[in-house]
Amino acid sequence: MSGWSHRHVLDLASFSIEDFSSVLELANRFKAVINTGTRKLPALQGSLIATLFFEPSTRTRSSFELAAKKLSADVQTFSANSSSLSKGETPLDTALTYVAMGADILIIRHGSTNVPAQLAHCLEKSGHKTGVLNAGDGLHSHPSQGLLDLYTLAKFFSPNNPSPEAIKGKRIVIVGDILHSRVARSNLWALTACGANIVLCGPPTLLPEEFTSFVDAPPSGQKYDPIVKRGQITVMRSLKDAFQGADAVITLRLQKERMRENLLTDLYQYNCEYGVTHESLKWCKGNVPVLHPGPVNRGVEMSSALLEDDSICLVREQVSNGIPIRMALLYLLVTTRS
Ligand code: CP
Repeated sequence: MSGWSHRHVLDLASFSIEDFSSVLELANRFKAVINTGTRKLPALQGSLIATLFFEPSTRTRSSFELAAKKLSADVQTFSANSSSLSKGETPLDTALTYVAMGADILIIRHGSTNVPAQLAHCLEKSGHKTGVLNAGDGLHSHPSQGLLDLYTLAKFFSPNNPSPEAIKGKRIVIVGDILHSRVARSNLWALTACGANIVLCGPPTLLPEEFTSFVDAPPSGQKYDPIVKRGQITVMRSLKDAFQGADAVITLRLQKERMRENLLTDLYQYNCEYGVTHESLKWCKGNVPVLHPGPVNRGVEMSSALLEDDSICLVREQVSNGIPIRMALLYLLVTTRS
């Protein structure tokens, strides 16, 4: 792909519109091939992809492993619970072990922010060409989820040409626990880059007002923002107000495991105010799609009836789209390695 210059994929703040286009275009081609019933492509035959998940996952790990296998790569899975971590081995020495086994790409998830970036930096410093793909780090970033959400929305708005252009000018509401969500942060970088205007909606304890300026400056360590004009971010506290004029809704999981204080006193109250249901969606301007990265707390951030309504809820579509998106990322990283 012309213009692709990323040796690692660590976040989406550093992505240009050309990068988003490249990933979406390639993913769309892979999806078309999968839909013909083709089980495997020979593209990455001989490559070794290692998945190093220091934090639990169902979707992301399985999806990356399936994506790698569909491109005929070999896959090595590291299981934190049965690994030498319990003997005191560090994430860096774990990563170096898989590099020594010949891994071309390390797909890394960690509960602490910036661990994948630090490992990528250490590998580069010691002369290794192994690429690092961030599969979620602390509250910071979940780039492949941000990309699959972008692709799912682009495909909904423009089925025949799911490009970043399809998102421009859309009003997309993100509801829930923004504070603890790396998915929300990746969504913000991706969707504003494509010109969407974002409404963030949630209680003050889970959505500080400062999020309105989240994309105003590149993150520390990044010299400039590759996007000339981003969409705007607004914070609203009322779901009814947020849903006025919405084109799409993304709901987020309440991340109880990351809440150090009891930030919510009453789950029932939260569900009454911010739970997305068929009823609350009537405040939107028509039938709008609802996304959720999963796993879902049924009956908390979304009703079970809505989760199971595939005519509105795109959760299964997101999971399905995750495979071609991750195929595209792996293909781009492996084939442009130098
Ligand atoms: N969306 C997501 O990251 O799900 P998993 O934690 O199951 O990978």
